[in-house]
Amino acid sequence: MAKEKKKLRIGIIGTGGIAHSHLDAYVRLKDEIELVGGSDIVKGKARKFFDNAGLTEVKAFDNNADLLALELDGVSVCTYNTTHAECTIAAIEAGANVLCEKPMSVTLDDAIKMYNVAKQHKKILTIGFQPRYDPNMDLVRDIVGSGVLGEVYYIQTGGGRRRGIPGGTFIKKELSGVGALADIGCYSLDMVLSAIKYPKPLTVSAYASDKFGKNPKYFNDSKNFTVDDFSVALIRLEGNIALDFRMSWAMHMDSMGDTMFFGTDAGLKIKPAGVGTGWGGAWDGTIGPIFMYSDVQGQLCETSVPLRQPSNDRFYNKVKAFCDAITEGKPAPIPTIESVYNQAIVDGIYRSSQLGKEVDIVLPNL
Ligand SMILES: NC(=O)c1ccc[n+]([C@@H]2O[C@H](COP(=O)([O-])OP(=O)(O)OC[C@H]3O[C@@H](n4cnc5c(N)ncnc54)[C@H](O)[C@@H]3O)[C@@H](O)[C@H]2O)c1
Repeated sequence: MAKEKKKLRIGIIGTGGIAHSHLDAYVRLKDEIELVGGSDIVKGKARKFFDNAGLTEVKAFDNNADLLALELDGVSVCTYNTTHAECTIAAIEAGANVLCEKPMSVTLDDAIKMYNVAKQHKKILTIGFQPRYDPNMDLVRDIVGSGVLGEVYYIQTGGGRRRGIPGGTFIKKELSGVGALADIGCYSLDMVLSAIKYPKPLTVSAYASDKFGKNPKYFNDSKNFTVDDFSVALIRLEGNIALDFRMSWAMHMDSMGDTMFFGTDAGLKIKPAGVGTGWGGAWDGTIGPIFMYSDVQGQLCETSVPLRQPSNDRFYNKVKAFCDAITEGKPAPIPTIESVYNQAIVDGIYRSSQLGKEVDIVLPNL
């Protein structure tokens, strides 16, 4: 008789909003994994989370230590940003691989600690950037990676919402740490930096504001709003590349512009999706039309690049990639160092906007 394949033992830490997408994916992966348990610091929340999904046999805890004692192969960390580091480190030290929600952490120091613990324990640590698993994000990476643009020297990340301040834990500094910058800004950074293979960030000069979140005319929970809702930055990258970053949760403008790659042989423009909806252009993986600009025999050409069929399975594919990497003994599907560089920029934008001047990004040898 064929020997039954051992299923991965999986847990979920933090059973709030985004944990549902992890749960759905793990349920779909039931032939390969066993969802063993979950935990949340809010008493009874994890139990309710599983019971509501009809998963009464899955164990639920009000503290993470009891969950992590169950000898898990993989853990999804779905807590708010300020507790990503402590939960990820605890899970890795208990012997589990980790898929942690984005952004990696709040500070660069925490991201480095998470990276080092994963390296020391030889565990996978991957961050939940599901837009990576969209065919059109692959298309952008394929075009830029093919070298057709020549030397890329300037990049602009676009996006931003016209009216899109989320509520709940996203707006409270003690829980989220950072606002729009880390919430959706980390996606737009990941989109363009993954296309140019994540060069090291060197310096940041940034501006951030909170003019909409703090104004009751535009946001009904303005009294509790303690993070940024808008930020722009100029980031210098290794290889003499300038990165122009723009992100907002709210503004009197339809868009913060296109995403653009300027190369010595050609340029690539990616229009934001959902302009006019008030919410679009957040780089959640849905992108608008793509155009390439080049010079053919002295003629200035603009070419429309056909899009690939978009995927509705980005969240599932993110979780599956994590499970496959554990099963097949592969490295993190999104290299951990890339997420550290992403966090280094978020950290730099935060520091520079607070100080009102350019700051260096200091990274140890990792
Ligand atoms: N990938 C995506 O598309 C996406 C979408 C939304 C949110 N997120 C990210 O997911 C994370 C959570 O967001 P959310 O909307 O689910 O927030 P949420 O507040 O709904 O859920 C977070 C949960 O974590 C629990 N928690 C916090 N600290 C804990 C700890 N130390 N141990 C155990 N449980 C703890 C909270 O009690 C809460 O139930 C954030 O980092 C956010 O940026 C990602």
